[in-house]
Amino acid sequence: MDARPWWRTAVIYEIYVRSFADSNGDGIGDLGGLRERLPYLRDLGVDAIWLTPFYRSPMVDGGYDVADYRAVDPRVGTLQDFDAMLHTAHALGIRVIIDIVPNHSSSQHPWFVAALQAGPGSPARDRYIFRPSAPDGGPPNDWESVFGGSAWTQVDDGEWYLHLFDAAQPDFNWNNDEVRAEFESILRFWLDRGVDGFRVDVAHGLVKAPGLPSVGHSAQIGLLGRAELPYFDQDGVHEIYRSWRKILDSYPGQRIAVAEAWASTPERLARYIAPDELHQAFNFDFLDAEWSPHALRAVIDNSLAAAGLVGAPTTWVLSNHDKQRHVTRLGSLARARAAALLMLALPGSAYLYQGEELGLAEVLDLPDGVREDPVWFRSGGKELGRDGCRVPLPWSGSAPPFGFTTSEHTWLPMPASWAGLTVADQSADPESTLSLYRAALAIRRTAFTGGLTWLDSPPQVLAFARDDGSRCVVNFGPEPYPVDSQPRLTSGPLRDGALPADTAAWW
Ligand code: GLC
Ligand code: CA
Repeated sequence: MDARPWWRTAVIYEIYVRSFADSNGDGIGDLGGLRERLPYLRDLGVDAIWLTPFYRSPMVDGGYDVADYRAVDPRVGTLQDFDAMLHTAHALGIRVIIDIVPNHSSSQHPWFVAALQAGPGSPARDRYIFRPSAPDGGPPNDWESVFGGSAWTQVDDGEWYLHLFDAAQPDFNWNNDEVRAEFESILRFWLDRGVDGFRVDVAHGLVKAPGLPSVGHSAQIGLLGRAELPYFDQDGVHEIYRSWRKILDSYPGQRIAVAEAWASTPERLARYIAPDELHQAFNFDFLDAEWSPHALRAVIDNSLAAAGLVGAPTTWVLSNHDKQRHVTRLGSLARARAAALLMLALPGSAYLYQGEELGLAEVLDLPDGVREDPVWFRSGGKELGRDGCRVPLPWSGSAPPFGFTTSEHTWLPMPASWAGLTVADQSADPESTLSLYRAALAIRRTAFTGGLTWLDSPPQVLAFARDDGSRCVVNFGPEPYPVDSQPRLTSGPLRDGALPADTAAWW
């Protein structure tokens, strides 16, 4: 028995619920569909799943606009469906992490509806961030929404409310004790049901700088060239996570939290995963790194060093529901497969995004009329947004909807070019990307343990060993890289005893 906590080396698979599997023929993925497909995830070999929000929501931002934190959206199922899914997952040995969205609610949350009715200066308004106009009659300050445009929207009585994201996502006031108590209660509600942890949405955003100073006055550029903003990564957030950690630790079975946090330096990010705060933070530097041995080695070294400062495990991620799929971002399926072997050989925990194990590329040609992402709308169509990585998964068959649903219609249309990429097709093909992921996860269960040591290699190659003697070599090319013995697994075929460009191998 391994005494190390499960999450320090876990492979955690992200489920974008409405695009995973549909059980009732309405073309929208749901908890029943997820439950039916859980054996697929057991066979893939993941330790846990992370579900994006499935709560009651107007779905302005794909469910990241929550109207009721204790209810399942009827389009996705019921609380009974959730419990049944959780029960089945646990029976199959899969842990379940759910998304918690504490920075903002939906504008249809009863608290925000009450805040609008109650008027300026009321206790109901104090749960959100309302302010009067600036002296010039404009918004209270110059803060911009992450999705584009001003972060302030004016209401009928003249006050403005803050929304770092869409206008339908008003920010909570975390200086308000009722807000703090409510979220502690929500955590307990789901922990009592048996969830294994939380993914904390916008974990760096909850506390804003006192006085809400304008960015123009306060912006400084951090060490990594990232702006330090008065609404992100304020010191006050850490007190919140210390109180959450106490709640998590009061439950049996190693419940965890993973932060979606952005900070100006790896050291500041590491504060979120101090021993008395959250367990993990996403490593977006790895996701954002270009496909080069130099860039990746630097990110790997910096990530290991920063997490090591606080004794936390690193995490690694290549794709998620907010980012262009890495087949497209890195430029080829060969690179995507090599990147997956690189990631899965590193120390720590790895996050997979549904469909990457099928080698799916970003869908770039969705018709304008089907797009749903607020990024698309708020940028006036200048930015395509994130719908292209959220297209439903192809399970079987030779034409859309590829077994995702019994309906002809899916909430985003599926490309006909996915014929041949379905789970059914790839399961039967030992060379497929699905077979590669299955083999890699199976090997990872018993190999690639302990620390990492870089091995000598030419500049176009990354090579490292782990303490148990497992080795990973990635050739970025263009020259083939000769290998001395038969690898245990490769991301693509060897040619004349050499690793071709954009290929990784494990020994
Ligand atoms: C996070 C989510 C993203 C969402 C945003 C606002 O970044 O990953 O999908 O739009 O928060 O909640
Ligand atoms: Ca459905």
